[in-house]
Amino acid sequence: MTRAVHLASTDSVDTHELAAVAARTFPLACPPSIAPENVASFIDTNLSAARFAEYLADPQRVILTARDDDRIVGYAMVVNGVGDDPDVARAVEVRPAAELSKMYVLPEFHGGELSAALMERALAAVGGWGVRCVWLGVNQENVRAQRFYSKNGFRISGTRTFLVGADLREHDFVMVRELD
Ligand SMILES: CC(C)(COP(=O)(O)OP(=O)(O)OC[C@H]1O[C@@H](n2cnc3c(N)ncnc32)[C@H](O)[C@@H]1OP(=O)(O)O)[C@@H](O)C(=O)NCCC(=O)NCCS
Repeated sequence: MTRAVHLASTDSVDTHELAAVAARTFPLACPPSIAPENVASFIDTNLSAARFAEYLADPQRVILTARDDDRIVGYAMVVNGVGDDPDVARAVEVRPAAELSKMYVLPEFHGGELSAALMERALAAVGGWGVRCVWLGVNQENVRAQRFYSKNGFRISGTRTFLVGADLREHDFVMVRELD
């Protein structure tokens, strides 16, 4: 069995397989209070194969996949910039910055070394952007992910609200990690 992390590209990744992993792992980050239809709506809008094809073609985004043999078992996406949310802008003081926008691993691979390796490779892959800080939003109820990020150099720097589905505002911590 070979576990590896790969830089994804429009040539190298099956967007349907990636979307299937995204659909399986996104609900793991959601608190039980989010209605299943709002989770499904978020997945339809943001995590379809067509959306991943757009993300892969965007030079301001980088996606890495973690693979077990050839099967995708996790992925990370980094997006250049801070965006236009004023709460995020306040929390991310060190610039230029990029967002660790997605960080998802199948449950059977949690608790090992794969997640940290995937994240470090994703951050290394955007070295050419010259960013001095990486930021992310994590649901305030997602304690496992917060613990993972804290262990890996992130600290809480602020909060924001985040829309999942039509009308439910979720509360995130904004975490930041300054790069050397
Ligand atoms: C976030 C994620 C990539 C982290 O990978 P991982 O392999 O689980 O990370 P690790 O095991 O290295 O670290 C998780 C830590 O949380 C702890 N933990 C696990 N479940 C927990 C819980 N319910 N409450 C509190 N801590 C928990 C683990 O014990 C571990 O801490 P430790 O190393 O001090 O024991 C992975 O859990 C994941 O894909 N989760 C689902 C999707 C998600 O939430 N993504 C993040 C969106 S912002």
